[in-house]
Amino acid sequence: MSSNLSPIDKAKFVAAKRAVDYVENGMRVGLGTGSTAAWMVKCLGEMVRDDGLKITGVATSTRTAELAQQVGINIVTLDEAKWLDLTIDGTDEYDHNLNLIKGGGGALLQEKIVATASDQMIVIADLSKQVDALGAFPLPIEVVPFGWQTTKALIEETMVNLDVLGRSTSLRKNGDQPFITDEGNYILDLDLKRIGNPRQLSLVINQLPGVVENGLFLDICDVVVIGNGDGSVEVRDINSGTIEHEQIDVIETDNLFVDIAD
Ligand code: 5RP
Repeated sequence: MSSNLSPIDKAKFVAAKRAVDYVENGMRVGLGTGSTAAWMVKCLGEMVRDDGLKITGVATSTRTAELAQQVGINIVTLDEAKWLDLTIDGTDEYDHNLNLIKGGGGALLQEKIVATASDQMIVIADLSKQVDALGAFPLPIEVVPFGWQTTKALIEETMVNLDVLGRSTSLRKNGDQPFITDEGNYILDLDLKRIGNPRQLSLVINQLPGVVENGLFLDICDVVVIGNGDGSVEVRDINSGTIEHEQIDVIETDNLFVDIAD
């Protein structure tokens, strides 16, 4: 293992390394977005290069598509792939039922479409993403730019009657400009602090005009692979109810750490 890797990067790396064990020759694979997912893309790239793995990837953002192509993964659109065997992605929060908050990287819409079009979704994370109740991480909501301030006010007003502890909403910025998603939309980050009923909240938010999608991923994730800074991983499978522990071997000279830029 490179001595330059911080414990948090090592945790992300080993989660990614373990998750790519699920990928088999010929699979159509959804590729998530974010720093943890970037490790997974690099691991898959290495398997394509060194082991002759043949896969077709569908990226969940332009960022991921660029990285995947850089490491030699064949990328097609979701409509070309039609349906996926597997999606591997990071998360901002996961609870004990493997429900998630995603969208910290601004890619929630494509991530949700891709994960929903997959037989299986595997989430890779470090332990800091685990929560008893979702909502400490502000919930990203993708909205159309037209009338966004009205949509924001409507969202905040709607929260009054729901089981949440906060409702302040902020427009995500990129410098002093609104952050623009790959679909040309804005993101509102809704600071709820605690979400009592994620299912009800998701339905209510998505009914508001102006809202495209929210970052709650409910009943979509099948497996979470949790990496730790000591190189150990825990694999929780919600369908089989199993929990496995493993130690991941990382080779110091692994060229993942030296020849691919982030
Ligand atoms: C992007 C996402 C990411 O998966 C999430 O933000 C986690 O990112 P990271 O692995 O960098 O912590 O949902 O929209």
